[in-house]
Amino acid sequence: MVPLKRRKVVSIKDSDNDTGKETRFPQVVIFILERRMGASRRVFLAQLGRGKGFRIEDTYSESVTHMVSENHSGDEVRTWLGERGQHGDQSRPPPVHLLDISWYTESMREGRPVAILDRHRLQEEQSVEVPVFSAASYVCQRHTGQPGHNPLLTESLAVLAESAELNGDEGRGLAFRRSEALLRSLDRRVQGMTDLRGLPCLGEHSRRVIQDVLVNGRSSEVEETKASSRYKAMKVLTGVFGVGVKTAKRWFTEGICLKHYADLNQPVTRDEADSVSVTVEAAVCSVLPGAQVTLAGGFRRGKTSGHDVDFLITHPDEGKEEGLVRKVVACLESRGFLLYHQTTKNTYQESAQGAGRPSSNMDRFERCFSIFKLTNGGDPRDTRRAQEQAEGREPDQTASAGSRPWRAVRVDLVVSPISQFAFALLGWTGSKLFEREMRRWAVHEKSMTLSSHALYDKNQERYLRASSEEEIFSHLGLEYVSPSGRNA
Ligand code: UTP
Ligand code: MN
Repeated sequence: MVPLKRRKVVSIKDSDNDTGKETRFPQVVIFILERRMGASRRVFLAQLGRGKGFRIEDTYSESVTHMVSENHSGDEVRTWLGERGQHGDQSRPPPVHLLDISWYTESMREGRPVAILDRHRLQEEQSVEVPVFSAASYVCQRHTGQPGHNPLLTESLAVLAESAELNGDEGRGLAFRRSEALLRSLDRRVQGMTDLRGLPCLGEHSRRVIQDVLVNGRSSEVEETKASSRYKAMKVLTGVFGVGVKTAKRWFTEGICLKHYADLNQPVTRDEADSVSVTVEAAVCSVLPGAQVTLAGGFRRGKTSGHDVDFLITHPDEGKEEGLVRKVVACLESRGFLLYHQTTKNTYQESAQGAGRPSSNMDRFERCFSIFKLTNGGDPRDTRRAQEQAEGREPDQTASAGSRPWRAVRVDLVVSPISQFAFALLGWTGSKLFEREMRRWAVHEKSMTLSSHALYDKNQERYLRASSEEEIFSHLGLEYVSPSGRNA
């Protein structure tokens, strides 16, 4: 039996909807609004529905009984309908259920149209004064300070992101990271879920967590995650080195972690970073006069503490920087400043494996991953001797930092040729999410590949040069975001 209403709608390409699959629920005629959802997601959702025997219309018509949208209020959808001239007669309400996407996804899961609950219905605008946030989709289009106006929410999402990352679930981790960054970029405190209407990057799961925190002051999922022993153990390890789980495991077996565990687990302060800067600058200048040392990483973004100190080194004459890491390391070592170091050579060659070949996100600069012996003034060689004499024994590095005049600090030294310096500086300033989002923007919006070495324009089939970060943003069609705004 064909419902009466359906016959009236002759303009719709019925053939599209009868994709060979029987319509199992003829009384439910669904239309999915593409706005704010995007064409590809809509196509995907529609195909999913049709595969399960739902009737999904490609065009809106009066036969539609269930109108589904994402990140919309009831008023917004009604306006949309009005603009289309669908329901010019304002006295007559549109004959459809205006539903949130959650009704649709739950129905997909169940394989049948689920009962419509209040939470499925689109919320109405409360009043004009209700603050509604707006935000650009990509992190690199926004200014993200720290810690933001919603610390409880962002911390909760960060825990879930971390946990997903530690479990090797990158996609899930990234989704939580994007939600976290979005909330951190808001200029006010979120009061309720309605404030978040229409914002990009907030998936269902993140919204659930946010709602929990807003309503109960905490999220049970976050609490459980934090209490799990796996999370606690891996967090300590990766936190110490700021590296992925794999590297953390390797370092752990090397015993480095145990040796300097207490020190490395304690955040590096800005003063300590400045003190390391002085030492590094002195060493660099003594082996290559004219070379320039720049503090990068979180400290360049204005953070007051970090897990390590990152330095970028270059020389105004291209080529002079070659082999510099080894010379600097030798110098620092002879002066007693290095407890551990591991140097990697520069393996980047633009012609052979440049940014046009973005298979690896790892950059290939000449680099040293080190553990610094940071003294509170004086020669590190003296402090070791002084300590050994005072204690009348071999130095025990597992001892806590309290009793001795030095401590271990993670330091990264990276050398870049001057022609790649702007890209290296941008890449090593972070934050990781900001960088990742810039690369995503470059690929999807500009057909370019960005790395810490170069920017490649795939349409023009050429590299775009830049001698400052501003130029890179401009090549990418982005407003410049200063380092302090990259704390995503
Ligand atoms: P960090 O891991 O040091 O992060 O990398 P951070 O922002 O300074 O944070 P804290 O304060 O130390 O905890 C700094 C930047 O260097 C890039 C990262 O992507 C980040 O943007 N980086 C790091 C690389 O490009 N390659 C690496 O191998 C490591
Ligand atoms: Mn750092």
